[in-house]
Amino acid sequence: MTTEIHATAAASGANATERFRENKKATASSSQERVNLLASRIVKAINDTVLEEKVTYDEYNAFKAWLIEVGEDGEWPLFLDVWVEHSVEQVANENREGTKGSIEGPYYVPDSPRLQSPATLPMRENEQGTPLLFQGRITDLAGQPLPGATVEIWHADDEGFYSQFAPGLPEWNLRGAVVADGNGYYQINTMQPAPYQIPTDGSCGQLIAAAGWHAWRPAHLHLKVSAPGHQLITSQLYFQGDEHVSDDIASAVKPELVLDPTPRADGRGREVTYDFVLDPE
Ligand code: DHB
Ligand code: FE
Repeated sequence: MTTEIHATAAASGANATERFRENKKATASSSQERVNLLASRIVKAINDTVLEEKVTYDEYNAFKAWLIEVGEDGEWPLFLDVWVEHSVEQVANENREGTKGSIEGPYYVPDSPRLQSPATLPMRENEQGTPLLFQGRITDLAGQPLPGATVEIWHADDEGFYSQFAPGLPEWNLRGAVVADGNGYYQINTMQPAPYQIPTDGSCGQLIAAAGWHAWRPAHLHLKVSAPGHQLITSQLYFQGDEHVSDDIASAVKPELVLDPTPRADGRGREVTYDFVLDPE
């Protein structure tokens, strides 16, 4: 079991780096003025820390060695998505009136299987965990249903592992793009995900241990919800009662994004309703 978890942790960083390169997100171009401004501020923030905290040569060299290792481990996507992306998301979505956004994280894969609602996400025959029926409506700001809306969903399994980033899972396990019905309703049958621990055996784990932090994110569903003529929202939903909802290493929980599922009448797991509201383009 330990070996399996370690193999998984080591692989997920490298996979996340490879996937980021494939998705070709790094194509933004900025003006010289903007690069000058941002790079100068970041360099100044580091220098201010050195001067104010009187950083020693030992500490400087440990920092240098650690930065080199983050790259070697392929953990830059993990590091940035845990400790920086939440601020970028806050800025990107500050003017939205509809459903709140949250970070995308390192484990999104485009082009997952398209499924018509009501849908069951691809999963193993013996998929472990508590069944979860996740359903609701997708509307515009005025509450009008948006037919043709799509709920793209991806999440970890009952052990906290993501398909395509941990070994041994079917390619599209617990990933899908569910098309809502003509009234903007969607219904998704899946399995309750487990809380997720960011890999502890790489350089991010080393930092967490050295600083005395913890490595946990609360259990979460990742979502990209879209409809013609409306802005796509990237978000996450969490579960009431999860101790890390109030203590997320990635600072990505918002009170509007916490679900409170109830037991299903037929005794088969739990169900929850969540309505998405999309801003116009
Ligand atoms: C990380 C993993 C996640 O599942 C997530 O949602 C955010 C960040 C990470 O390991 O960096
Ligand atoms: Fe995640």
